[in-house]
Amino acid sequence: MSKTKRITLLPLQQSIDVNKGSHLHDILFNYGVEFPCGGHARCRGCRVKIKKGSLPVTNLQKNILDNKELDEGWRLACQGVVKDNLTLELGQWKSDILTDDSNFNFSSQKGYGIAIDLGTTTLAAQLVNRETGEVIAVETALNPQAKYGGDIMTRIDAASRLHKQDEMQTIIHSKLIDMIMALFRSSNKKLSRLKRISIVGNAVMHNIFCGIDVEPMGFHPFEPNSNDLEVYKPSGLGWPLHEDVIIEFLPGVASFIGSDILMGVWAKNMEESRGLKVLVDLGTNGEIMVGRKDKILTASTAAGPAFEGAGISMGMRAVTGAISSVITRDGDIIPKVLGVNEAKGICGSGLVDAVSVYLNHGFIKPDGRFTNGESITVQDTVVITQKDIRELQLAKGAIATGIRLLLKEFNATENDVEEVFLSGAFGNYISKRSARRIGLLNFPQKKITTAGNTALLGAKMALFNSENQFENLRQKMTHIDLSMHPDFTDVFAELVNFPEK
Ligand code: FES
Repeated sequence: MSKTKRITLLPLQQSIDVNKGSHLHDILFNYGVEFPCGGHARCRGCRVKIKKGSLPVTNLQKNILDNKELDEGWRLACQGVVKDNLTLELGQWKSDILTDDSNFNFSSQKGYGIAIDLGTTTLAAQLVNRETGEVIAVETALNPQAKYGGDIMTRIDAASRLHKQDEMQTIIHSKLIDMIMALFRSSNKKLSRLKRISIVGNAVMHNIFCGIDVEPMGFHPFEPNSNDLEVYKPSGLGWPLHEDVIIEFLPGVASFIGSDILMGVWAKNMEESRGLKVLVDLGTNGEIMVGRKDKILTASTAAGPAFEGAGISMGMRAVTGAISSVITRDGDIIPKVLGVNEAKGICGSGLVDAVSVYLNHGFIKPDGRFTNGESITVQDTVVITQKDIRELQLAKGAIATGIRLLLKEFNATENDVEEVFLSGAFGNYISKRSARRIGLLNFPQKKITTAGNTALLGAKMALFNSENQFENLRQKMTHIDLSMHPDFTDVFAELVNFPEK
């Protein structure tokens, strides 16, 4: 019997030959499939539907998939071992990764620089001509550490309890140097002209990259061992670049406020502003910055996963088959599905839109209960359940509470804010109108600006500047632990409901 088996992936009709006995987890990861719980059969995020062939049903799968799903051929890819030729339909595909094409001020310098946004889920790198400020080439990829878990807490667990930190450090170093080489290959530029590489990321990504033990970030007060600027020579990372290249992992501020946020604040020039500005970064986590010239306060919430589809019964990332928006036209409710006709799930922007529309139609009450039944069908087999609404309320309630509490420290309200920047993967795709309707952002719509990938923009600006500037800004920033704030419970109880109108 042949030792090679063929796997065909739908809807792309892509076929791959693999060895019998290979784990689907390892194979599919290379094709952009994510394993949000790290392959522990806890999240359902890696579901695949068998169209041809077979994958045995294990006890772990029976715990998480119901009989109907199993009968229909759904399996957890993270538990699958290839014994047979297979045709699989995937619930998720690689999504667009947010980069940056903003203009920024710079003073001309010699040679090239590379800015890298090392995100929990995605990686983005830009090759920049430091004489002209022009972006010459862009590379994006999924973070290969995602196979150890989709969110930072799962990643910390894998690093500390499962002793995978060294492995995770090695694979990210190797992935980033591959991307650096690809930038030069695709642009046909000389590697010898590379002068500086600036990397930003949250504190967990920072510590894993730098080889600093992440275990303390797994429990209260979630403080990293270090979040400081780390500077390397290429030989220190084993990167085949000439030894004069400066590689720096930029500094962060506090536990979950990493250099990605610090650079975002810097990129939006918040420390120079006389009026109050707000930066909300909605990605895998939710981070909030409120400030002006004299001080800048930061807070973080674990709100992101719901916005990225995690914890939502038919939630998925914004990839093929996801309902990404819902609008009302002439009284009809119209969902939009990415890439195909048939909806397979709903992503964060679709969920926020759907709830906004259902609130306006009176299908959902301000306290989150449905007027009729236990679920609402959005399109095809995609439904929103009462539990999904609860998850969304908790997520948006936490962000809105964080904003309100930080504003309170300035004796200000949402009306006193001059400008609100929305950044992060989710922040860039959400409808501002819907975000206001569900009470996620309680600001006048005209004050809200979509800001792109501010972390990458900040990393690019850092290619032209001295590290002292970050130090000054860092000193100005104070992190507020929302969970310890005396008013958190009361404000959250007020903001967890949806606004009346
Ligand atoms: S259930 Fe497979 S990755 Fe979570």
